[in-house]
Amino acid sequence: MTRFKAGDRVAGAFFENWVDGPPAAEARPALGSPLDGTLVEFRLFNERDAVMIPGNLSFAEAATLPCAGVTAWHALMVISRVKPGDSVLCLGTGGVSMLALQFAKAAGARVFITSSSDDKLKRAQAAGADEMINYKKTPDWEKEVQRISGGRGVDHIVEVGGTGTLAKSFQSIGFRGNVCLIGVLTSGGDTSPHPLMLRGASLHGIFVGNRAMFEDMNRAIEVNRIQPIIDRTFPFDQAREAFEYHRSQSHFGKVVITV
Ligand SMILES: NC(=O)c1ccc[n+]([C@@H]2O[C@H](COP(=O)([O-])OP(=O)(O)OC[C@H]3O[C@@H](n4cnc5c(N)ncnc54)[C@H](OP(=O)(O)O)[C@@H]3O)[C@@H](O)[C@H]2O)c1
Repeated sequence: MTRFKAGDRVAGAFFENWVDGPPAAEARPALGSPLDGTLVEFRLFNERDAVMIPGNLSFAEAATLPCAGVTAWHALMVISRVKPGDSVLCLGTGGVSMLALQFAKAAGARVFITSSSDDKLKRAQAAGADEMINYKKTPDWEKEVQRISGGRGVDHIVEVGGTGTLAKSFQSIGFRGNVCLIGVLTSGGDTSPHPLMLRGASLHGIFVGNRAMFEDMNRAIEVNRIQPIIDRTFPFDQAREAFEYHRSQSHFGKVVITV
């Protein structure tokens, strides 16, 4: 072993053998599909596929990072290259969106959040969100984004909704903006690319990310003292309850199972 020493606190990367740059041409084996996942007491990783976790995080906080964290980082910092003063729209208050909120704020952006719950919007505001929209009370939330932004639209969107929200995201994006397609929470909907074309905007597919992104993100988390938001932690023997709680979508940020 050369990358670590005994006692180091590490996390496993989401993909096996994707260190940097583009992935190899063949399919990327991922944790849980087809590789074994991490709902285990012991898990062996090749040291190539592990990273040091940020020194300011507990193991539970660090557990939020390999998938949701790297995905949010890839979207905002690698693809969108968020700059101070940019505007970022995050859909919902789940794990990816709340980590995206924290990264966007650390980068000096103005952050818009949508949620089905006013209580969650208040929590998002406490976590740094600037503009809050309840997408249940305001189903035409894209018009609200346009109104708040003075008709300019936002510069970047963390699109976790999928095809059911894509048309509204295309109506919310600003000139030459970036829509990062991450999630599949909804289906159906209008996926016409024309609104995107009229705005000169881009649609980027995001599939988690590589080890180099994970390491860059961890450095930023440590320097900016970012603490990932954990809604609830369940003990290992209540893993089933944890999944049921997560499926209920009553969580804010991440749900963690401890070993
Ligand atoms: N492409 C990738 O690499 C990648 C990586 C990670 C995750 N994902 C996918 O990204 C999605 C989000 O992941 P996650 O871990 O953040 O999920 P999560 O923690 O379960 O977040 C779910 C939240 O999304 C919000 N939501 C649901 N329907 C919505 C809608 N119609 N409009 C706006 N928001 C809506 C809700 O927020 P409120 O309760 O506030 O309304 C809900 O609580 C999932 O589909 C996941 O599979 C993809």
